[in-house]
Amino acid sequence: MTRWGIIGCGRIAHRFMQGLPEVSGNALVSVWSRRPESVTGFTSKFGGNPCGTVEELLLSDIDAVYIATLPDSHADYSIAALNAGKHVLCEKPAAINLTVLNRILAIAAAKGLLFMEGMKPPFFPLYRRLKAYLIDDPIGEAGYVRAGSSVADISPDHPNFSYELVGGSLMQIGIYEAFLAIDWLGATKQVQALGRFGEAGIDMFSIFQSEHKGGYAQLYCGLDLHGMGDALICGTKGNITIHKNWWNPAKATISYLDGRIVELDEPYTAGGLNYEIEHFCGLIKAGLTESPVISHEMSRQMISMLDAARAQIGLKFRGE
Ligand SMILES: NC(=O)c1ccc[n+]([C@@H]2O[C@H](COP(=O)([O-])OP(=O)(O)OC[C@H]3O[C@@H](n4cnc5c(N)ncnc54)[C@H](OP(=O)(O)O)[C@@H]3O)[C@@H](O)[C@H]2O)c1
Repeated sequence: MTRWGIIGCGRIAHRFMQGLPEVSGNALVSVWSRRPESVTGFTSKFGGNPCGTVEELLLSDIDAVYIATLPDSHADYSIAALNAGKHVLCEKPAAINLTVLNRILAIAAAKGLLFMEGMKPPFFPLYRRLKAYLIDDPIGEAGYVRAGSSVADISPDHPNFSYELVGGSLMQIGIYEAFLAIDWLGATKQVQALGRFGEAGIDMFSIFQSEHKGGYAQLYCGLDLHGMGDALICGTKGNITIHKNWWNPAKATISYLDGRIVELDEPYTAGGLNYEIEHFCGLIKAGLTESPVISHEMSRQMISMLDAARAQIGLKFRGE
């Protein structure tokens, strides 16, 4: 049984609780957020004990903490949870930059505890089936990734638009694109970026292209244009389209050089975080401190791409 504490009771925490009951051997035990009414609203819906402080939550009888606050506070709560002896699943981006991420990872290593960034796409059934399918019927070496996401219908009071809460399109959305490029093309060699800022001082739309060990990626992310949301991966013998919204993958088309077309269709259930939760709990059971899928190196590579892109468009957060 994995006994969970949740810090932060917003949109993604609700989606987490859609998934948690789908995975056997889990229980929600403790909940804390900044506003007491958020906590009681959450516990009356999903159960768990409402905590008055974060300290109370960390002292409660839990094995793991899911950190579902905004990126400005991810590091503080991750470090507090690790210091309290708890495994941590932290929402993306796990830290505002590589320096802060390394601080978290050093504490996880010193404590011998599991730390994983919540980067969900590789755990979805479609993504797993796609990777498995390509072992028997490969598209050759992948050499190019083109992907993007821009969502124009987010309400103006959404934290994505907040400089203080470490919003912006690169931090909130671009990290998914960074994941895809690294996952298919390997370690990053260089990044080039352009970004357009809004009144709040965060990037409303950014494009970034990167050179990796295995090839090139062209990526975009935005908060004010209606994007397409699909992803293209090109190899020497074929290409793959992961259809929109590729970061919640459910359908893919593989087109081979010899003319064959293969369609993969794998709907996901319960909001899709159930697969990531199952993986995380499996790691705890196996006594592992790192995911082989979203490894610490993957988290380092993802945030490093964003660090490089932000440096080029001139976006620094408080304290940087
Ligand atoms: N994996 C995914 O599919 C996915 C999707 C969307 C977002 N995310 C990520 O999830 C995170 C949360 O996003 P969201 O959309 O859920 O945001 P949200 O709806 O605004 O929820 C954030 C929650 O955290 C609480 N909170 C914020 N700052 C806090 C602090 N300093 N201390 C304690 N509680 C705090 C809020 O507090 P109160 O209500 O108590 O005021 C709120 O309950 C972000 O990092 C985002 O990038 C992931």
